[in-house]
Amino acid sequence: MGWWHAYYAGHSRSVGGRGLVLEARGNRLGSVVFYEAKLGSTTLGVIYYVAVKPHYRGQGLGKILVLSAEELMNPDLYVSTLQSNNTPSRKMFESICYKPYTWSKLEDLSPMLAEAIYRSTCSYEDDLVMIKGSIGEVRLSRDSLKRARRIWDITCYKPWKRMNPT
Ligand SMILES: CC(C)(COP(=O)(O)OP(=O)(O)OC[C@H]1O[C@@H](n2cnc3c(N)ncnc32)[C@H](O)[C@@H]1OP(=O)(O)O)[C@@H](O)C(=O)NCCC(=O)NCCS
Repeated sequence: MGWWHAYYAGHSRSVGGRGLVLEARGNRLGSVVFYEAKLGSTTLGVIYYVAVKPHYRGQGLGKILVLSAEELMNPDLYVSTLQSNNTPSRKMFESICYKPYTWSKLEDLSPMLAEAIYRSTCSYEDDLVMIKGSIGEVRLSRDSLKRARRIWDITCYKPWKRMNPT
């Protein structure tokens, strides 16, 4: 995952972030970090990071990690954000029924949902949102956005500020 992503992943603990590690015979093969972003009337199940060691990719382990994380949450939607040039990750999410949305497509459908996901996932580097579930059934309010901004402060802005103090 690298220290930079590990640094941010660690801060997700403050909003309930948890991790699963996939091991075989004492070898770590991959891991996933996830949390439920509780936004009042709606909960987002955030798949924050997922990574499989290069040698073990393409054997279904990424899917197992994400599906296992899903089992431990009970949200209205599952979401994960990516860079659109990350084909392996996009394909992996698509293979387990996630649909890709650009931010502009999501804003057209629901500006509130776009902001709620953006803030809840600290996704300032990503241009693609993978979503599993029915967007039409999600209900968001101003209070939901306040909660999402609080998650942004804890997982994203404050950790960034700590690294860039001036
Ligand atoms: C993304 C990642 C976790 C996928 O893990 P993986 O174990 O290789 O994925 P899986 O074997 O479970 O693949 C699931 C599906 O995606 C497809 N897929 C995976 N890698 C692919 C690739 N390079 N090209 C095309 N399709 C691919 C598989 O064909 C499979 O589809 P199927 O079920 O229809 O056969 C892995 O590539 C990785 O660790 N990447 C680096 C970290 C990263 O970018 N994480 C995502 C952002 S946090």
